[in-house]
Amino acid sequence: MSALKQGEFVGSLDCGTTSSRFLIFDKYADIVAEYQTEYPQYYPEPGWHEQDADEIMASCDVCITEACKALEAAGWSKDSVKVIGITNQRETAVAWSRKTGKPLCRAIVWDDGRTKNTVAHFERKLDYVGLEVQPGVFRKAKNGEAALKELTGLQLSTYFSAIKLRWMIEHHQQVKKAHEEDDLLFGTVESWIVYRLTGGVHGGLHITEVTNASRTLLMNLRTLEWDPVMLNFLEIRPSVLPKIASSSEVYGEVSYGALQGVKIGGLVGDQQGALIGNKCLKQGEAKCTYGTGAFLLFCTGADIVSSAHGLLSTVAYKDGQTGKPVYALEGSIAVAGSAIKWLRDSLGLIKSAPEINTLAASVPRTGGVYFVPAFSGLLAPYWDPGAAGMLIGLSAYTTSAHICRATLEANAFQTREILESMKLDSKTDLKHLMVDGGMTNGDMAMEVLADIGGFTVVRPEMRESTALGSALLAGSAVRLFGWDISKPETLAEVNTKGTREFKPGMPEATREKKWRGWKRAVERSLAWDE
Ligand code: G3P
Repeated sequence: MSALKQGEFVGSLDCGTTSSRFLIFDKYADIVAEYQTEYPQYYPEPGWHEQDADEIMASCDVCITEACKALEAAGWSKDSVKVIGITNQRETAVAWSRKTGKPLCRAIVWDDGRTKNTVAHFERKLDYVGLEVQPGVFRKAKNGEAALKELTGLQLSTYFSAIKLRWMIEHHQQVKKAHEEDDLLFGTVESWIVYRLTGGVHGGLHITEVTNASRTLLMNLRTLEWDPVMLNFLEIRPSVLPKIASSSEVYGEVSYGALQGVKIGGLVGDQQGALIGNKCLKQGEAKCTYGTGAFLLFCTGADIVSSAHGLLSTVAYKDGQTGKPVYALEGSIAVAGSAIKWLRDSLGLIKSAPEINTLAASVPRTGGVYFVPAFSGLLAPYWDPGAAGMLIGLSAYTTSAHICRATLEANAFQTREILESMKLDSKTDLKHLMVDGGMTNGDMAMEVLADIGGFTVVRPEMRESTALGSALLAGSAVRLFGWDISKPETLAEVNTKGTREFKPGMPEATREKKWRGWKRAVERSLAWDE
């Protein structure tokens, strides 16, 4: 066997909602080796969505091992991987034992809607008791909501991870006991992966990264520390929480396996990862990633822009322990690719996800069908946990092709909703949108997006933006290839393969008529279960 070559590469572990993958990039962001695998999803009750933290970790381990084998098969030594980054589905809550390092229950996934009553409880608490912003000073009702938003950039919702943690403490005996006995450790998925990667089954570092922490409802958006006001309000002991770290620094080393001894230099929530991977690092730059859900992030630079139109203020990234945070406005859509998965797995309308494009293209319009995929309520800009999914406008004329087309249109309408809010909040009219994520592979989906949205869609050729974002942060932490995330000019050679544009072709009057139809459909789906 010929000797393996030595190179310089950066690895990225991308643990998304339905699959994990490990990609190895060179200095131009060309992929040298990769491996992806799905892991099990559990839906034990309507609106519930769980994962097994051990199974998540096992999938990550397999991806690292297999991608390293693929690297060697391509003729490169695995020692060529100089540093790795990790990116993850964000608000998924994991609870494990300090003593044993073992998960105490299944992880509650970000799009799980079971915590409606927990949210309602805290809404009432906000109304009647208030948020104790200083000892003895309580902000109630609307003032309380505003104070909470000011502190965290968020609002009370089933979406955020501390609400899920609260539910676990209340409803899961083992978690409750561990909380009382101070044996409970909490983390989002990157926190869990770092804990395991740095210490094996017995566990190592208990840290989280700032963009992930900004999705808990517990982090102060300005100090980037856990906020005692929020801990007190949600009744969570500070000792269960990980230490908040930046998005780019050397946190520790992988303690086992093919990459033993390799530094971990980047951690980032997957949507912020995609923002960075698209090199939207400066104020005014935006992207939308169409994965399980769809997430539109608009970089607001050093400013925290507070939304008056249903968007979230969040951290985009923080470069190193002493770096200044960069912020973003975010519009979160819970259901995008998962609606296609539903058509495939639950309804059997299509055999594979890409088939939605062929079927949708086989009809010129939806024939009056609208699909509001509010499977566990609606996130931005409605924030209605009681909204229910709805197919409306059906007739004997309707075929699966119309439903497929309506599914692609739903995605586009939801994107337009977010862009309308963003326009009002940022006073910027985005003329084009950078896109990535699995759903963007379909040309038909992109044509529908441009037509219904009324803007130009810009799709890069290399669309592993999420993974690339964490690779850039990791490379930057050790100045691999001269990368410095705070100096975008150092990334000029990264991913320059070009883009394809999709321009809106639909007549304005048709677009606006359909938009009115969508708004009426959403109106009917709101607060359906109340
Ligand atoms: O906020 C949830 C998000 O991080 C999940 O992303 O790509 O797995 O749908 P994705």
